[in-house]
Amino acid sequence: MEVLKAGFVQGFMRMAQDGWEQGWHERNGGNLSYRLCLEEAKSVEKEFAPGQWQEIGASVPALAGAYFLVTGSGKYFRNVAIQPEESFGIIELDEKGENYRICWGLANGGRPTSELPSHLMNHEVKAGATGGRHRVIYHCHPANTIALTFVLPLSDEVFTRELWEMATECPVVFPEGIGVVPWMVPGGKDIAVATSELMKRYNVAIWAHHGMFCSGADFDETFGLMHTVEKSAEILVKVLSMQPYKRQTIQPDEFRRLAVDFKVKLPEQFLYEKHESQAGR
Ligand code: 13P
Ligand code: ZN
Repeated sequence: MEVLKAGFVQGFMRMAQDGWEQGWHERNGGNLSYRLCLEEAKSVEKEFAPGQWQEIGASVPALAGAYFLVTGSGKYFRNVAIQPEESFGIIELDEKGENYRICWGLANGGRPTSELPSHLMNHEVKAGATGGRHRVIYHCHPANTIALTFVLPLSDEVFTRELWEMATECPVVFPEGIGVVPWMVPGGKDIAVATSELMKRYNVAIWAHHGMFCSGADFDETFGLMHTVEKSAEILVKVLSMQPYKRQTIQPDEFRRLAVDFKVKLPEQFLYEKHESQAGR
């Protein structure tokens, strides 16, 4: 089958376009990766022309031999739909999970995203934690979430609680909470290690003053998660722009009642009593 006609490639391209339309991908901002299942790789392998092995910059032994769709470094999400073969590609990992080679796409000298270490280390953690269910890792630069990293304390507890409060569906969509990575140099192994550590517990990791990573089973779930968190952040930005405190909000006991009816487990660490000085009291 032609790569560009495959369902998983179409889904990848649609998600990139949706992210662009949300305004989350200025210039080359953001990157997307998808772990192919065996049948998907088989269905398109006739078109593969493997290049040279190159270092990943991280070690992901549990992903040895896996294939990924991945956006290219310096490529614009805006162009994914019209220049697909330049904008993204399919890579294969070696038997150690330390090197990759381009099998399709990333034409004219392209290479995978500079955040490949973060993507692959997150894939490794999430594939292990979900019994292989999660296949998508998505990074973007959504303005409201980034804005909050300048005014809220950079803690998992505060970000989770504040974003849960802004829309009743939030604790149902991300009951496990949200992790926050302090400002770090992007594109390397250190930030990949810090992010993948958070991905052991969460499906969302915010990079202070930079953006967000989400993990999910498929394109809909992962995009929907990003969309839900960023919309909640937008509401919080609006509220904090009107006045520095909330007149009323969802209370810890109300979250506990919600958890019972919606059959989700909401960790008590996020249901703390607030003090006067805390954001959004
Ligand atoms: P790439 O163009 O290398 O994917 O980098 C974009 C980005 O968002 C870095 O964090
Ligand atoms: Zn980025």
